[in-house]
Amino acid sequence: MAKIALFGATGSIGTLVLREALGRGHDVTAVVRDPAKPVDSGAEVLRGDVLDPHSVAEAAAGRDVVVSAIGPGSGDPGVLVTAAKSLIGGVCTLGPDVPRPRVIVVGGAGSLRTPEGPLVSEAAGVAEPVRALMHAHGEALDFLRTVPVEEVRWTCLSPAAQIGPGERTGTYRLALDDLIVDVDGRSHISAEDYAVALVDEIERDAHPGRRFTIGY
Ligand SMILES: NC(=O)c1ccc[n+]([C@@H]2O[C@H](COP(=O)([O-])OP(=O)(O)OC[C@H]3O[C@@H](n4cnc5c(N)ncnc54)[C@H](OP(=O)(O)O)[C@@H]3O)[C@@H](O)[C@H]2O)c1
Repeated sequence: MAKIALFGATGSIGTLVLREALGRGHDVTAVVRDPAKPVDSGAEVLRGDVLDPHSVAEAAAGRDVVVSAIGPGSGDPGVLVTAAKSLIGGVCTLGPDVPRPRVIVVGGAGSLRTPEGPLVSEAAGVAEPVRALMHAHGEALDFLRTVPVEEVRWTCLSPAAQIGPGERTGTYRLALDDLIVDVDGRSHISAEDYAVALVDEIERDAHPGRRFTIGY
């Protein structure tokens, strides 16, 4: 059983990560800005803000893994970069007496390479607000890649190009930086299977210091 602190537990992806982790018997603390908002029963709730490194350190102390499933909503996508820096900065304040937990970040698909060659974010027809979100996820990933795993054991999980509510099949394919497409050329994953893959990573620690992606 892993002790997990989860930022973004009230979001659409975070809710499913929380449910998947609790269902597998992990000890999950939902770190939320507003404790009045409902989260799945079974989780401990802690007030916190991912943009505050002190808050991250408080949430991270005594946990094995810190997961961030935060998103900017309709606000500034730049918070994704600030959040990545705050997560690493907060975790780095721990030690040597308190072990540093691993950090797993929910990423975006924009920085994945398509089978045709360009990045997903460079494809024609991507709306400007979506492109800005993709670039912010890319910048957050660029920052994480500067962090040596000896300092913080981080991982970023990018979804397929399309992710949404669907079925929990428990099966998916893995890649590192290349977009996964199915035989019909479609890149997709249900949010439920994304949560399965994220909790698999919590349990397996298979991609330290790397971004990886999943799809059908
Ligand atoms: N859903 C998709 O289609 C999709 C596709 C690709 C990538 N992603 C990425 O996946 C991530 C999650 O997406 P989502 O759709 O689940 O987002 P969402 O439903 O909008 O949820 C965002 C979550 O982030 C939390 N949050 C925001 N700022 C925070 C802060 N400063 N401190 C603590 N928590 C904070 C929110 O908490 P509050 O309840 O306090 O607001 C909420 O729980 C995003 O980064 C998104 O870009 C999503």
